[in-house]
Amino acid sequence: MAELLDKSKQDSPADSQEQKFGLKSLVLHLHPRRVPQAVLKFTHTWGLGGMAALLIVVQFLTGLLLRFVYAPFPGKAYDSIIVLQNEVLFGQFVRNIHHWSAIFLLAITFLHLLRVFFTGAFHGPRQFNWIIGCSLLFIVVAANFTGYLLPWDQLAYWAITVSTGMLEYLPLFGTELREAVLGGTEVGAATLLIFYNLHTSILPLLLFLLMLLHFWRVRKAHGVMVPQNSGNEANNYVAVIPNLVVRELATALVLLAVVLTVSAVFNAPLQAKANPDFSPNPAKAPWYFQGFQELLLHFHPVFAVLVIPFTAILVMLAIPYLRYDAEPTGIWFISGKGRKMGSISAAIALILTPLAILLDEYVISPSAALAIFPGYIIKGVIPLSFLLIFIAALYYLSKKKFAATKNEAVQAVFIFILTGFLILTATSVGFRGEGMRLAWPW
Ligand code: HEM
Ligand code: HEM
Repeated sequence: MAELLDKSKQDSPADSQEQKFGLKSLVLHLHPRRVPQAVLKFTHTWGLGGMAALLIVVQFLTGLLLRFVYAPFPGKAYDSIIVLQNEVLFGQFVRNIHHWSAIFLLAITFLHLLRVFFTGAFHGPRQFNWIIGCSLLFIVVAANFTGYLLPWDQLAYWAITVSTGMLEYLPLFGTELREAVLGGTEVGAATLLIFYNLHTSILPLLLFLLMLLHFWRVRKAHGVMVPQNSGNEANNYVAVIPNLVVRELATALVLLAVVLTVSAVFNAPLQAKANPDFSPNPAKAPWYFQGFQELLLHFHPVFAVLVIPFTAILVMLAIPYLRYDAEPTGIWFISGKGRKMGSISAAIALILTPLAILLDEYVISPSAALAIFPGYIIKGVIPLSFLLIFIAALYYLSKKKFAATKNEAVQAVFIFILTGFLILTATSVGFRGEGMRLAWPW
């Protein structure tokens, strides 16, 4: 019935003639004819999904231009970037756009994930779209990572060496996996070619296909989630052209203006040419992997590289399929109580994470215990058990003491873990100096 009603609101014969060609037709492939007034409110989605899509188009276009000059061979890659910057008209600018837009894309995709989570838009018919979204995020990270190596400067070479080195810690097949990724025993010509091909053909293709699937699923779920508290606005349908399209265009123009301005003012970094014989100190992974690099300083490698990240990925994928006891609301942070509990969880993580880092760095010295028990017990099972007990207590207290629904309690735990991970990342990016020791950046 809902399908029929929807259809009746859709095309007349004249309309479908009109739809065959032109921009209007493109818009109406992406959107229905009409949408509830409630979803026009900018602060509902913040337009983040559309922003991510736009930045991907920017990456495709600038990437194609870069390919005209870039040469994916160790003897030529760095020099081709220098030629690009110094001799090609707008070469530096195009490189800057590709560089900054990649960073914006990562941040915006992540923020989009957060908006979907915090408005509960992963329930019901949107469950599988969350999984597609997680895959999109994975590919965006992979595209950033493979692109990182291409300039072939010291920053690129050592960041990829450090990150792929983490794979060595995986038990059983770690070394084989690392060598498969690198195409050899160390970062070299084969690695550059593998990364280049992944970066400029396979990942963009996957991204494109998954995006189509993602958009199709949004339409199949009858558009984005409508907030439950939007009263009449939920049933009042308005035409997509011009109402939604004008808002999307405005958002797109503002985003483009910001990316172009940043690219005009700040050049993409380029250090000295890669030198496999001289490692910088500290050698750090790209910033989005530094949370894991920080974990590696505190946990046994098998836990930092395998147990914790893979559990986190599984939990992320399971989020839509957990059993909840309340219907999705489409309201930010579920309710007033959800918001309050979220703030408390964030505050606890904000205090406890730096405290734990400092304790581990300066106070706890497990060397005596390590002489008796194996490392994976002292630096793995024991600290992880403490963490899990704490998370269980947080969940239990939320439900018992604050009479929270399961949705609100899961949200509180999510915020706790998220804040903790962001602090780990910030610590490694900003507060780790020579030998990865804690240091003030100024
Ligand atoms: C989501 C898509 C993409 C992301 C996130 C991405 C990200 C990146 C990043 C972070 C770099 C290093 C930039 C730097 O600091 O210099 C890079 C370089 C590069 N990318 Fe992409 N890229 C994407 C798509 C593409 C596509 C589709 C192509 C080509 C078809 C491409 C071609 C290149 C080339 C040739 C370079 C080397 C030039 C340079 O480093 O400045 N990229 N990319
Ligand atoms: C390349 C990255 C991505 C692109 C281009 C993209 C694009 C979009 C767009 C345009 C929408 C509809 C409007 C909006 O919410 O802005 C949407 C909705 C959605 N996205 Fe994404 N997305 C991406 C990544 C993700 C990620 C990482 C997740 C979560 C893990 C996700 C899950 C969802 C879900 C569940 C919806 C439906 C939301 C609702 O109905 O309210 N997406 N996406």
